[in-house]
This record gives sequence, structure tokens and C-alpha cells, in this order.
Amino acid sequence: MVDFVHPFPGKNPGDSLTKAEIIRALRLSLSAEEEATQLYDLIAEYVDDEKIKKIMKDVADEEQVHKGEFQKLINLYDEDEVEKVEEGLEEAEEKMKESKEVRKLAEDLQSITKYASELDHVQQFLESIKASGGDLDFALQQIDLIKSGDMANLHDSAIHLIDLRRSIESTDELTNFFN
Ligand SMILES: [Fe+2]
Repeated sequence: MVDFVHPFPGKNPGDSLTKAEIIRALRLSLSAEEEATQLYDLIAEYVDDEKIKKIMKDVADEEQVHKGEFQKLINLYDEDEVEKVEEGLEEAEEKMKESKEVRKLAEDLQSITKYASELDHVQQFLESIKASGGDLDFALQQIDLIKSGDMANLHDSAIHLIDLRRSIESTDELTNFFN
């Protein structure tokens, strides 16, 4: 015989229930919806009969609605629930934002590395231009910033230099750039 879960072990109908017992039963109901959804989705995935597939998918969707109903009751009975869930949502959002920033920084560093081998050459080139009278303080400052490993300025400096590197691909462009 199938052994179904009892929400209130040791209790009989009519016995009083504590708030904690009610909350636990609601959470059990919520997890039963998750389990049912998983079961119906798997049946729909494995069975070829289109009638079964269709109904299983339909009922699996309905279970999501039931989940919402149970969650609403849990929110009412457990006064910390909404605050905790919102805290979790905010934490997750913060972590996703952080990982996006880390990814962006990694991309920036990759881009800098790509151009790093050219920096010495660019520096020498610009210094020789400066020696002949051009005002290259800004460009040299950017190179110094990158070389010093100043993370706060790394990205902007790299972009300036990448732009600069592209601008000095021909003597004519170089002349225009500094005039
Ligand atoms: Fe359900």
C-alpha cells in the first residue's frame, strides 16, 4: 500500500494545532506541489501518448498556481517570510551584479593584455614625437597610469590608448591628431 505523508503525525482531527505545526504543514504542501510538478513534467517527457503529454503539461502548470496559493498562506502565517524572501532576492541580485562587474573587468584586462605588448613601442614612438615638439603629456600620462597598475584608471586609460593606437596608424593621422 502506498504510504502517503501525514501533515500532523500523532494528531487526530479536532486536536488543536500550534502555529508552527500549521506553517510546517503549509510548507509540506508547497514542497508537494514542487514534487508533483516534477513528476508530471517527467511523465510528459517520457510518454509518447499525446493525450497524456498534453494533460500532464497542463496539470504541471496548474501546480505552479497552487504553489502561489500556498505561498500566500505561508506569508500570512509566518510574519518573517516576506522579509526573508525579499532579502534573498536582493542578495541574489547583488551577486549577479557583482559577477557582471567581475566579468566586465576580466574583459577589460583581456583587452589591456592584448594591447600591452604594443605599449612600449607606442610609448617610445610618442616620446620621440614629444621630443620633436608635440604636446603628448596627456597620452604619456595614460601610459603611466596603466603601467602603475592603478585599477581605478585602468579601464579609461586603456580605452584612451587603444583609441590613440588606432589614430597613429599613419603619419598623416598622427599629424592630424596632434594638430
Ligand atoms: Fe496541486
